Amino acid sequence: MNENTLTITDNRTGRTYDIPIEYDTINAMDLRQIKVNDDDFGMMSYDPGFKNTASTKSTITYIDGAKGILRYRGYPIEQLALQSNYLETAYLILNGELPTKEEYAEWEHNVTYHTFLHENVKSLIEAFRYDAHPMSMFISTVAALPTFYPESRNISDPQVRLIQIFRLIAKVPTIAAFSYRHLRGLPYEYPDNDLSYTGNFLKMLDCMSQSKYQPNPVLERALDILFILHADHEQNCGTATMRVIGSSHSDPYSAMAGAAAALYGPLHGGANEAVLRMLTEIGDVKNVPSFMEGVKNRERLLMGFGHRVYKNYDPRAKIIKEVADQVFEVTGANPMLEVALELERIALEDDFFISRNLYPNVDFYSGIIYQAMGFPVAMFPVLFAIPRTIGWLSQWTELLNDGSQKIARPRQIYLGEGERDYVSMEDRE
Ligand code: CMC
Repeated sequence: MNENTLTITDNRTGRTYDIPIEYDTINAMDLRQIKVNDDDFGMMSYDPGFKNTASTKSTITYIDGAKGILRYRGYPIEQLALQSNYLETAYLILNGELPTKEEYAEWEHNVTYHTFLHENVKSLIEAFRYDAHPMSMFISTVAALPTFYPESRNISDPQVRLIQIFRLIAKVPTIAAFSYRHLRGLPYEYPDNDLSYTGNFLKMLDCMSQSKYQPNPVLERALDILFILHADHEQNCGTATMRVIGSSHSDPYSAMAGAAAALYGPLHGGANEAVLRMLTEIGDVKNVPSFMEGVKNRERLLMGFGHRVYKNYDPRAKIIKEVADQVFEVTGANPMLEVALELERIALEDDFFISRNLYPNVDFYSGIIYQAMGFPVAMFPVLFAIPRTIGWLSQWTELLNDGSQKIARPRQIYLGEGERDYVSMEDRE
């Protein structure tokens, strides 16, 4: 007998089936042959939230949730955070290998070349209400970009695809910064292509009347590390959305607007904003025990805790805690840190959290750093979306190059009414 098979006995019919196993996985379509009779549609698997369904083979990001391991293209996140920079990591994630000096110079040049927005995009952002949420402005502006680049619909040409990838990586900080300045009622600040990726972003956020703005090197590096940590995270909700939309062959801007919309939710990338609102509401260490009672009574969630994949300390949260110390030396400590540390201390000792493997995730401490750096909480999800752009685009590229992929179209178990006749309105009860 072939050992790499799973034998299933259908007790309804007494028949057995040998299903091939590859990579510890069975192909869901192999279940379809399991039928009670010829009219039967065949067996399906039911998996709301895709808790145990692999939708793709991928070579980009590896996570071992039990051990708390995260690697991009095989490189441990800890090494990349310490030794790489965001643009180099972005090159790695997209292309699979670290760039040579020449490759990096060309990559950096190409990204830098596309940082400016069409003036009409600026007018579009200006049209938003004065207090519009920056993530909504970000999503809407990304969704509007294909009106400026209609050739982006030609997704089968790798060269056309690459130009859109450069445009998106280059323009997302500009869109984010314009959204921020809009929220603050400040004039929009154009990019300075002599600065680094994060240095330029800080300049577009902060520059007032300086003739040559110089970013604080500690904050510039801290933001760069945060961007590395957020660059990709395999098949999460936003990335899965990017792939689902991409599978219908939409242009990358439309797909990415959808991915960013998925990220915006408080259970996903919007959690960093939700954490800060939660910490502000708790307000003081003395209120932590009663708040935790509420969590254990299931009145609310402890935002920034728990993860679908990590059942151990999120390795990104560990690195972020170290970055926080460096940032606080420049900005002064965030008073919310004390509340966060107390929440974590209690959670790590409490059986409710231990038994459910609930540990701090990437969003638990990132917001505290962003707030210390002066970002309003509404900007936090945008700060997640900027670096995740390369992850989305790399996963989208992998999808389009994967001949086994099809348009995403799940099945359902229909439990509604059987056929019945239409009743005219006068005759209805
Ligand atoms: N606070 C309190 N209880 C929780 C929490 C939490 N943050 N997270 C999970 N639980 C409980 C949950 O109630 C359930 O308990 P039980 O088994 O008794 O019903 C158990 O833990 C398992 O949780 P789940 O909801 O089945 O797990 P999931 O994999 O479907 O959800 C999650 C993962 C991240 C959506 C969830 O942990 C959560 O809502 N966390 C808070 C929001 C958050 O921080 N999101 C950011 C995730 S990391 C950033 C990113 O998405 O990339």
